[in-house]
Amino acid sequence: MQPASANLPQHVAIIMDGNGRWAKQRGLPRIEGHRRGVETVRAIIDATRALGIRYLTLYAFSAENWQRPADEVSALMGLLEYFLRRETKVLIKNHVRLHTIGRIDELPAGPRKELQHAVAATRHFTDWNLVLALNYGSRTELADAACAYAAAVVAGREKPGESSWTTFSRYLYTAGLPDPDLLIRTSGETRLSNFLLMQCAYAEMVFSPVLWPDFTKAELAAAVEEYQRRERRYGLTAEQIKAGTAPTAAAINR
Ligand code: IPE
Ligand code: IPE
Ligand code: MG
Repeated sequence: MQPASANLPQHVAIIMDGNGRWAKQRGLPRIEGHRRGVETVRAIIDATRALGIRYLTLYAFSAENWQRPADEVSALMGLLEYFLRRETKVLIKNHVRLHTIGRIDELPAGPRKELQHAVAATRHFTDWNLVLALNYGSRTELADAACAYAAAVVAGREKPGESSWTTFSRYLYTAGLPDPDLLIRTSGETRLSNFLLMQCAYAEMVFSPVLWPDFTKAELAAAVEEYQRRERRYGLTAEQIKAGTAPTAAAINR
């Protein structure tokens, strides 16, 4: 079934979790789960476009994931490079702009070069947006943004003493991207694991028990339908929302 096209989330962010458990259940090495997870990524990018959702952010590798066994980390970096090498032409064909969030300069040269190529080759597209969170952590993002903001104040590009989310958020990795409307986490875990903590201030959250390699377009559509049944109030009362009072962006981004 296809969700109604009215009231679609503009931006869906996904914490793709459960690859390791998927493999373990089958007596396979964890990397097999990651390989299958990549196939799900391809399917979900297509499904998101088919539903009419313009922004998709995928949490692919966290700042904390470097602490995993070295062979798993290098296999994940290899898969990222393989994915980009295979998929960049598909992104171009489908007019999908690739963005990255996270400390990309700390990634190994192989995937980093593929990323730079893919970002440059798709930067003129405006219809569809894929955001890959790589070496991403919200706390690192906030610390990096604070440093960049402080440098801008010292250089005279920002006013000292101005306290405004609209201004400060331009220094986050996500500058220029809308906040996620719907956050999905697979695998039954109900935590955020340092993902987009600020940007999800008013996101609706859906936790799916399905392990990421088994996640399908039908599950994505079900999450979107769940989102469409929710009432987003942004601090207003239910009566105000029913009467048609719209929350103002200015109030949320003070
Ligand atoms: C998510 O699957 C992929 C990454 C974090 C890179 P996991 O590898 O975390 O799978 P589980 O949680 O161990 O099942
Ligand atoms: C979050 O999953 C990171 C990604 C999906 C890339 P983790 O599996 O690393 O999170 P925790 O450790 O269970 O919180
Ligand atoms: Mg996990």
